[in-house]
Amino acid sequence: MSIARRSFDTLIIGAGGGGLRAALQLSRADARVAVVSKVFPTRSHTVAAQGGVNAALANVVPDNWHWHMFDTVKGSDYLGDQDAIEYMCRAAPRVVYELEHFGVPFSRLDSGRIYQRAFGGQSRDFGGDQAVRTCAAADRTGHAILHSLYQQNIRARTHFFDEFFAVDLIRDQDGYFLGALALEIATGEPILIEAKTTIIATGGVGQLFRNNTNALINTGDGMAMALRAGVPVQDMEFFQFHPTGIAGKGMLITEAARGEGGYLLNGEGERFMERYAPNAKDLASRDVVSRSIATEIREGRGAGPKKDHVLLKVDHLGTDVVRKRLPGIRDMAMTFLHLDPAETPIPVSPTAHYTMGGIPTDRHGQVVVPERHGAEEAVPGLYAVGECACVSVHGANRLGGNSLLDILVFGRAAARHVIGHLAEQHFHRPLPEGAADAAMARLERWNTPRKGESVPHLRAEMGRVMEDHCGVFRNEEVLQDGQKKMLELQERMKDASISDYSQVFNTARIEAMELENLMDLGVATVTSALARKESRGAHSRIDYPERDDIHWLRHSLFGMDGIQMDYKPVRMKPLTVDSFPPRKRTY
Ligand code: FUM
Repeated sequence: MSIARRSFDTLIIGAGGGGLRAALQLSRADARVAVVSKVFPTRSHTVAAQGGVNAALANVVPDNWHWHMFDTVKGSDYLGDQDAIEYMCRAAPRVVYELEHFGVPFSRLDSGRIYQRAFGGQSRDFGGDQAVRTCAAADRTGHAILHSLYQQNIRARTHFFDEFFAVDLIRDQDGYFLGALALEIATGEPILIEAKTTIIATGGVGQLFRNNTNALINTGDGMAMALRAGVPVQDMEFFQFHPTGIAGKGMLITEAARGEGGYLLNGEGERFMERYAPNAKDLASRDVVSRSIATEIREGRGAGPKKDHVLLKVDHLGTDVVRKRLPGIRDMAMTFLHLDPAETPIPVSPTAHYTMGGIPTDRHGQVVVPERHGAEEAVPGLYAVGECACVSVHGANRLGGNSLLDILVFGRAAARHVIGHLAEQHFHRPLPEGAADAAMARLERWNTPRKGESVPHLRAEMGRVMEDHCGVFRNEEVLQDGQKKMLELQERMKDASISDYSQVFNTARIEAMELENLMDLGVATVTSALARKESRGAHSRIDYPERDDIHWLRHSLFGMDGIQMDYKPVRMKPLTVDSFPPRKRTY
């Protein structure tokens, strides 16, 4: 079968903030850039980011990037790579001012400067008073950023393949990545997109869990493609549960609600965070707040008839503040709960939110894998940015407001590195005969009728397994059981059927491939969690309740060749300042 073929300097898979920031940098440098997105770009999940982007602008109280760096290292429970964290925190003010110039309509202080609000885990002077570091456009910051980046890309003539699904990466026998095979969703036609460099920017894998804050599209496609191509995924055991998803439904209620002065109450009307985090209280780091809520619920102090949630109170802030600073969550609460948070507290519970792990990269966005002799090596032609990547600036727990920052800083950094690479590589490497065969075979598999269980049925079961076996609190027995169930699900998936094959829509084929991606990453997540016998950041083992720096201050790597784990050291050395050695973490 002959396959349509197009050639570009750079292929970017994913049109969220990371992909679009990279694309803009490249298009402005006159590179020929293709962005492949399975949804229309402004529907990418960045659009759902609410509270804001961290940068030490000091618009409200004194601040500097070094304090931001300290908070991020501490927030990561010392698993973050300190060179990358320094790089990100230093670059933050610049990338935010760039956004202002791209047209992002930030909220404003009376002085006219960019509005900043308090977020969890932020401090002044290395652990002192609360900092105010999160730059916001009301509670729709991601929406504002994504639309501005998209418009700038249109202006810069970035080429978009809207509603194309990337099936698999293409590489040659020397290990160079040469682009990807994609499927046009409307027609079902495959297309081979050849590129000198490929940037994966496909976001996280929140759809692993039944209750999550993520868009339905967050199925970890890029991470799974990398895994299939032989690249391991790093630190998958660290999955962030946001403290305040709408209870039982999952939609995100931004941390900005607490940043603006809201607080949590248990079923007995107690401000329980005072017991768990006496200084930061409701603005402790997310892992701490989620564990505290889960503990209140487990110990019978939850709210509601089933005592299965707690309450987020913002009504004391007044209608004006709620309408002006938190209009999005007000809409959401009114739509999904029929309540106005300016009058009634919102029922919330910890909800799967963010993938700290992902494709291992350096701070230039280059995908790196450990060589046999311990050193890391860049994978030729392949980059990853944003939530699908693990650079690692978030370590074991990400601070709120650092994800938008991550996508902007490393989207830009990867593009700058690619531009240097393109200056030296003038020609495309030849595509070997049959380069797309494996990807085409994957596509073909879902054209062939089978009689197994239905894909939506398997997806629902997987979400329950992950929620029950890899949640806020974990232990050996529950994880072992979870791993067994995920491996069984992966087997059952091989026979899954998508529907009546006489009238299959391409979307059904795509749902099947998305589920394959999810299953691979679910196995990676539960296996990595089972292997790590300590508690660190978001990975909370009841049977190993302490952090163990002697044995576990290291990154995990999970590859597809069996379920064997590998490990590599944390980069403790920053670029220009002294390192922050691990300390006991309290808030
Ligand atoms: O709570 C929030 O607004 C989420 C922000 C984030 O995940 O960074």
